[in-house]
Amino acid sequence: MEKGGEASKWRFGAANPALEAAGRQSIRSIVSGLFDSLDKSDPRPVAPLGHGDPSAFACFRTAPAAEDAIAAAALSGKHNCYSRAAGVEEARSAVAAHLSRELPYEVTAGDVVITAGCNHAIEIMMAVLAAPGANVLLPRPGYPMYESRAALCGLEFRHFDLLPDKGWEVDLDGVEALADENTVAMVIVNPNNPCGCVYSYHHLAKIAETARKLGILVISDEVYDHCAFGSNPFVPMGVFGEIAPVVTMGGISKRWMVIQSVIDYTTGELPYADG
Ligand SMILES: Cc1ncc(COP(=O)(O)O)c(C=O)c1O
Repeated sequence: MEKGGEASKWRFGAANPALEAAGRQSIRSIVSGLFDSLDKSDPRPVAPLGHGDPSAFACFRTAPAAEDAIAAAALSGKHNCYSRAAGVEEARSAVAAHLSRELPYEVTAGDVVITAGCNHAIEIMMAVLAAPGANVLLPRPGYPMYESRAALCGLEFRHFDLLPDKGWEVDLDGVEALADENTVAMVIVNPNNPCGCVYSYHHLAKIAETARKLGILVISDEVYDHCAFGSNPFVPMGVFGEIAPVVTMGGISKRWMVIQSVIDYTTGELPYADG
């Protein structure tokens, strides 16, 4: 029974097709559904093969220096305020200095946007690219947050394959065949989730040359930077930033195991609003 007279006709709750399309890209609900359907009385251990969270394993711990710095910053009372939309200056400068160590040019604080996790950087990038009619090229297999965020922004996405027989390299012929005059960017994940490969210098150079030929941006998700265990050392895509424009998305959630603080970054020519 409604209080205060007649029942209102509530105006919210209508289906949102973009939200439903975004939800269909998620594998989390499938994984959660699988885990929920396990027989809890079965004593056999279950190996979760889809773990992107290092904190699940006792051997991976956040460095005490990082924990102390977070606690000191919270207790200082100096940071309980709004910052610039692109992040606090010290953090942007620190990220710029950190990235510049491995690049043939210098990244400045002005090139860096601090985000609340790499997922937030993906969300921003897909929104920035979602001009009417634009499309973005995404890897298959891939990290489904890209599809989900693109769907939510109404940005068309097309899939290029990663080639299992070639160490999961990008099918660059496929990229060229997929692209058209509305293609604005391609995404690579390096080191790769879910395939685990690390792209060689030579392959990254070929990706940059393909992007240049097509006139598109390379978005390089490097949230697993330096988590490289094979024979290929990790090379940042930014090394090829003079061949094609590169936006690098990285973070501290994986390599540095600072997960709940979700402070990540994105660098490159990313337009952002301040305020
Ligand atoms: C390829 C890839 N990009 C981005 C993310 C999200 O990173 P964050 O936890 O910093 O939001 C993940 C997390 O699993 C990932 O695997």
